Amino acid sequence: MSTVLITGASFGLGADFAQLFAADKYELVLVARSEDRLIELKNQLEAKYKVTTNVIACDLANGHAAFTLKEALDKKGLSIDVLINNAGFGDFGLFAELDPVRQQHMIDLNVTTLTLLTRLLLPDMLKRKQGKILNVASTAAFQPGPLMAVYFATKSYVLSFSLALANELKGTGVTVTALCPGATETHFVKNANLDDSKLFKRMKPATSMEVAQYGVKALHNGKVVAVHGFINSLMAWSVRFFPLTWQTAVVRKIQEKV
Ligand SMILES: NC(=O)c1ccc[n+]([C@@H]2O[C@H](COP(=O)([O-])OP(=O)(O)OC[C@H]3O[C@@H](n4cnc5c(N)ncnc54)[C@H](OP(=O)(O)O)[C@@H]3O)[C@@H](O)[C@H]2O)c1
Repeated sequence: MSTVLITGASFGLGADFAQLFAADKYELVLVARSEDRLIELKNQLEAKYKVTTNVIACDLANGHAAFTLKEALDKKGLSIDVLINNAGFGDFGLFAELDPVRQQHMIDLNVTTLTLLTRLLLPDMLKRKQGKILNVASTAAFQPGPLMAVYFATKSYVLSFSLALANELKGTGVTVTALCPGATETHFVKNANLDDSKLFKRMKPATSMEVAQYGVKALHNGKVVAVHGFINSLMAWSVRFFPLTWQTAVVRKIQEKV
């Protein structure tokens, strides 16, 4: 039986990834801070799908988190076939005014833990000549994002890192997919203080289940970059035809609150 590790499994996309892999009879490793919520999900998935579900409650927003998580996996004797690097958050506002500690945590979670967890789990996958990694980026990865400068930059990192790693891993049996959702209905909007942003007010967000289903399909097909939705794909790929400063100004307009 294959084992999938999902970070940020307590809510939103992560919880829906958990449902989909449980339905496919994977053993699950669910990681996030909200232990009660993870246990509730574990009980629900074990009852509904008869799958083994492991819960590891930990804060991934620090530089050592990936090492701590790997130690916990080793102690439980778990080896991972599919890694879903999903946990992440954003923060809306002018960079000069946002809480610097929260920006640090965002970089630690969205970039550092994602990178190190991949680095720590990859050798076993390479040894077994099979493995799949899904890194949750965003349509924010394709251009700079005033009023969410750090968040957009972290997602550009995720996209760039995933593309380069996918190239390095060609022929090894291990694949990397960067999933790029657009606006999606989860706790992300509230946590990022984005409730009044034009993007979320004027566009109908996708449901997290439809984005998770699209991501799992892309992962199984070995797709390297998977942008969810036709309009999002069009916007993501068309930015290359416009000057960066112009794109940046347009994103600012879209990001501004109504
Ligand atoms: N929703 C969107 O519009 C959208 C669009 C593009 C990309 N994304 C990306 O999608 C991914 C999933 O987000 P979501 O939309 O599903 O948001 P969400 O509903 O807020 O879920 C975020 C998940 O990350 C976990 N998390 C947050 N901080 C953590 C920490 N310090 N340590 C461990 N886990 C932590 C949360 O669990 P705990 O609070 O229990 O720790 C939760 O399970 C993120 O990478 C986000 O950037 C979202």
